[in-house]
Amino acid sequence: MSAPPDPSELRIDADRLLARIDELGQIGRIDGPNGEWGNARLALTDEDRAGRDLVVAWMRDLGLDVVVDAIGNVVATRAGVDSTLAPVMVGSHIDTVGTGGRFDGNLGVLAGLEIVETLERAGVTTERPFQVAFFTDEEGSRFAPDMLGSLVYVGGLPLEEALDLVAADDGARLGDELERIGYAGPVPCPTASAPHAYLELHIEQGPILEAEGITIGVVEGVQGISWTEVVIVGQSAHAGTTPMRLRHDPVYCAGAIATYVRDLTRHLGAEQVGTVGRIDVYPNLVNVVPARVVMTVDLRNTDDRVLQEAESRLGTFLDELAGMEGVSITTNSLARFEPVEFDASMVDLVEASAQRLGHSTKRMPSGAGHDAQMLARICPTAMVFTPSVNGLSHNIAEFTEATDIAAGANVLLQVVLDRLDVRRS
Ligand code: GLV
Ligand code: MN
Ligand code: MN
Repeated sequence: MSAPPDPSELRIDADRLLARIDELGQIGRIDGPNGEWGNARLALTDEDRAGRDLVVAWMRDLGLDVVVDAIGNVVATRAGVDSTLAPVMVGSHIDTVGTGGRFDGNLGVLAGLEIVETLERAGVTTERPFQVAFFTDEEGSRFAPDMLGSLVYVGGLPLEEALDLVAADDGARLGDELERIGYAGPVPCPTASAPHAYLELHIEQGPILEAEGITIGVVEGVQGISWTEVVIVGQSAHAGTTPMRLRHDPVYCAGAIATYVRDLTRHLGAEQVGTVGRIDVYPNLVNVVPARVVMTVDLRNTDDRVLQEAESRLGTFLDELAGMEGVSITTNSLARFEPVEFDASMVDLVEASAQRLGHSTKRMPSGAGHDAQMLARICPTAMVFTPSVNGLSHNIAEFTEATDIAAGANVLLQVVLDRLDVRRS
C-alpha cells in the first residue's frame, strides 16, 4: 500500500465537482432563451426538498454521519482521529432565489463534499473531524431574514420565532413547511458546539475579480444589510372618474420611493447600494386606483454609520410622502445585520494558500450576505471568492469558469487541511 500523499500536493477533481453542480442544478432547472440555465429552489419548497434529498444521499454515499437540526440545517461529519476535538466546518446553502444560478451556495456545499471524496481516495486521516453543512433559507426570498438557518444555528434568533415566520409568496408558516418537506430534524438548534473554524467557498456574484483579472477573492468581511418592508395604504377608486387632486395612490408612492432609493445612493457615495426588489400591488387592475402596495427596500453598506444615515433619510422621506399623498405608510424590518469582519489569521491563511498555489489574489469585502457572516459570531471564519462571468448572480445566466471553480476549491482544500491537523502515516 502506498503512503498517503503530502497534503500540500492534494488536489480536488474539478470534473467530479462540476458534475455534482450540474446534477443538483437539474432540480428546479430554469432554461433561458440563449442556452443559459439556472435554478428555482426557493427555501422549503418541493424543489428544495428534492435538492436536499440528493445532497443528503451524496453525503451518505461518502460515509458521512448526517444530522438534521430543528431549523432544517444539515450537517455531515467525517470522523477525525480524536472525536473530542472541535470540527473544521465547510458550508453554504442549496436554496436559491426564484431566478437563481446553479453556483450560488451550491458551489460551497459541493466543494465540501469534493474535499471529503479527495481525502477518502487519498487515504488521508485527520486529527479533527471535518463537517460539510448546508443551512436553511440562506436567500431569505421566501422567508426573511436571509441567512436564517445559520442565524438560528449560532443563537442569533430564537428557534420558535424562526419557526413562526410566514412566507412572502403563499403565507405558509416556516415550521409547517419544514415538517411538510421532512426536514424538521431532531438535533437541537442553536448548536451546542462551535466549530474550530468555518470556511465558505462562494462565487463573487459581482464584477470586480473578472474586471481585474484576479482568480481568488480573499474576503475580509461582509457589508451591513438592512431590509425593510414598506406597506402603503391609500384609497381604492375609479381610474376614470376620480380627479387627480382627490387621489391617495399607493403606486404613485411606490414609484417615488424607488426613485428616492436610487437618489439616496447617489448622495451617500459609491459604497451605498439600494434596491427595491419586490412591489405587490392590490388589487392590481388596469382601471382601479390601487388600495395598497407592499414593497421592499434593501440597503447595504460596508460602513454601518452610513447605512444608519440611509435608513434615517428613508424614514424621513416616507413620513413626508405619506403626508403629501394622504396615505398611511408603515414599515417592518425584515433583516438588519451589521457589517462583519472575518478572523484576521484565517484571512491571511486564505491569501497565503491561494498565493502558494500560484493564484492572483485580491482582498475584498463581500457585497452579498453569506452564512459565513453568522458563523463568524461563534468561530474563526473566512471565505474564498471565485470570479463571476459578467459579474452576474441572482440571474439564471450566472456562470463561473471551470478553471476558477477548480482554483477556488483547491484553495479551500488547502485551508481546510491546515486547520484539520493532518496525519501522514
Ligand atoms: C443573500 O444571499 C443576499 O445577499 O441577498
Ligand atoms: Mn449565496
Ligand atoms: Mn444568493
